Amino acid sequence: MSSLPKPIGSGASQKFFHVTKDPPLFFIMMRLNVKVALLFLTTIGFFTVLILWSVCGKEPNNLQDWRRTGKFSLDRLAELQSAEEIDCDINGEYVIGCRKEGDEVYLPFSFLHKYFEVYGKLATYDGLERFEWSHSYSRVYHPKGKYDPRGVFMYFENYNVEVRDRVKCVSAVEGVPISTQWESQGYYYPTQIAQFGLSHYSKNLTEPEPRRKIIEDGERELAKWGVPHPGTIERVYDKTAGSKVLKFKTGELYLDAIKLKMEHVLDFIMSLNIVLSGNSSFSIVLQNRETREIYNLHYITSDVLITVQDNNVYHGLGMNQEWKKLTRDLIVDLQKGLNYLDKDKSKRKIPKSKLKIITILLRGYGAIDNLTLSSSEHIQQFYDAAEWFVRHQDTETGGWPIPVKRKLASGFHDLQSGWYSAMGQGHAISVLSRAYHHSGGDVRYLQAALAGLKPFQVPSTKGGVLATFLNKYHWYEEYPTKPASFVLNGFIYSLLGLYDLMTIAPPGQADEAEFLFREGMISLKGMLLFYDMGSVTSYDLRHVTLGVAPNLARWDYHATHINQLLLLSTIENEPLFAQTAERWIGYMAGKRAAHN
Ligand SMILES: *[C@@H]1O[C@H](CO)[C@@H](O)[C@H](O)[C@H]1NC(C)=O
Ligand SMILES: *[C@@H]1O[C@H](CO)[C@@H](O)[C@H](O)[C@H]1NC(C)=O
Ligand SMILES: *[C@@H]1O[C@H](CO)[C@@H](O)[C@H](O)[C@H]1NC(C)=O
Repeated sequence: MSSLPKPIGSGASQKFFHVTKDPPLFFIMMRLNVKVALLFLTTIGFFTVLILWSVCGKEPNNLQDWRRTGKFSLDRLAELQSAEEIDCDINGEYVIGCRKEGDEVYLPFSFLHKYFEVYGKLATYDGLERFEWSHSYSRVYHPKGKYDPRGVFMYFENYNVEVRDRVKCVSAVEGVPISTQWESQGYYYPTQIAQFGLSHYSKNLTEPEPRRKIIEDGERELAKWGVPHPGTIERVYDKTAGSKVLKFKTGELYLDAIKLKMEHVLDFIMSLNIVLSGNSSFSIVLQNRETREIYNLHYITSDVLITVQDNNVYHGLGMNQEWKKLTRDLIVDLQKGLNYLDKDKSKRKIPKSKLKIITILLRGYGAIDNLTLSSSEHIQQFYDAAEWFVRHQDTETGGWPIPVKRKLASGFHDLQSGWYSAMGQGHAISVLSRAYHHSGGDVRYLQAALAGLKPFQVPSTKGGVLATFLNKYHWYEEYPTKPASFVLNGFIYSLLGLYDLMTIAPPGQADEAEFLFREGMISLKGMLLFYDMGSVTSYDLRHVTLGVAPNLARWDYHATHINQLLLLSTIENEPLFAQTAERWIGYMAGKRAAHN
């Protein structure tokens, strides 16, 4: 949404202003009105900009007229200096301080921002400052080509799921994020885990090749470990691993740790194979290059998710004493640890550029192999998500249960812990379909994806995700509430999961996914315009099923609706999708449906 209306139009005003070269109007107004702007700043709020506001009762949509009136001539602007203060009575509800000049009245933008929920900021281009007004804050992604289920998922290469505030940490047992969205203890949330997987899959396809540095591979003597008495290390062949590994053993005391000193910057994705016996640990010491403050990241044999003591952050690897592959974003691990202590999250944010790894420590008894520091390991992180879905599916129902209670809104019954979400199921199927494709046909992924279809056939009143609108349209519920809520974006995400599977599954195994997808598309075509509110979209259909006011979509959800329709338009030749998307894009620039 870059092209905002230019404040100066053609026609009458042209002899005073060259549209492209001269300082934009708001800028000039600001210069002429510094005193007044300051007045508003102190009395009204944080925006220092005034904007023109017509008092002549013109139709808001009739902007052409407004642009051509020549109101912006220098003469008139000069007169602004003599403008008077005037009270503005806003719908009889508020009185605010404004300015009057002739028949024109100027309102502070800080007021308009709050009153109309429009956005504005000062920006400088080519040395010229101007004020940019925008009606919404989200962006639309125009697909570059036909959607391919083997490729990038939507625009998820832009997502950084694990850094979100509502992610408590990335579990070192599972390698996937832990959500705190609806329960502060933290829980595995299938939708979020899938988004983590899909974002890493998409980043793998869009980002540059990673830099990798192997620190220890058990073969050659790459690393010079310092081994204090009575500790030992040896590089020996390990039968289960099928390769040489580094075995280590230290004395009982933590002071006796085996140490590798280093000066490593920039690439903080660590991966290794590791096996630890009880009470052993693997630690990374990071230092802030400016403050010289030290942070210790410990990976320990424990079921604790994350715990923190001073500058020591502990992640539990579980109690299972078998080889495991660990991929850690050390910056995320450190930051989650610091946030865990400190509720004022911004306070202790340390930029990656300020950190370096200074030591790696081994304590207790165990072995490591393939210790690597890289700029990214997206495919490994993707597979951590895919494996989670294979391991944690309910074999009977095919669902990935959501282990927390959820209340969508008053009027809806609570969803009890263990509920399924069509969005969670669909996203999981998108992950698993890609894993099946990427792994060259590992059937575990295909089987899990196919089993994941089961809840789509079970009514939401009976523990599934299927709702029916007006006894006619089948709908897959992101939140299978009573009564049904018909959340739009979650439904379309579930359709993408179905499309991914029907495209990637071998012939003969794609039928159920295809059937569910076709049914869903019929419903979407039939129901799409119920969500069109004429200047925004609605997030769900609670206004119909609960008989309450519509739940209007925030701009980011509105943009998601558009992005989803644009994407569906690339796989289904359905003019309704493209036309509706265009109209909804217009809403983001303040356009409205015509009225009588
Ligand atoms: C993407 O994954 C492939 C393996 O499928 C790997 O060879 C490549 O280096 C990865 N690229 C990025 C940017 O992660
Ligand atoms: C280390 O990587 C090599 C090559 O990928 C692999 O064969 C070996 O099994 C890995 N080590 C462990 C302990 O898994
Ligand atoms: C860990 O250390 C504690 C205290 O030294 C000891 O009681 C416990 O048995 C140890 N656990 C394992 C699994 O070695």
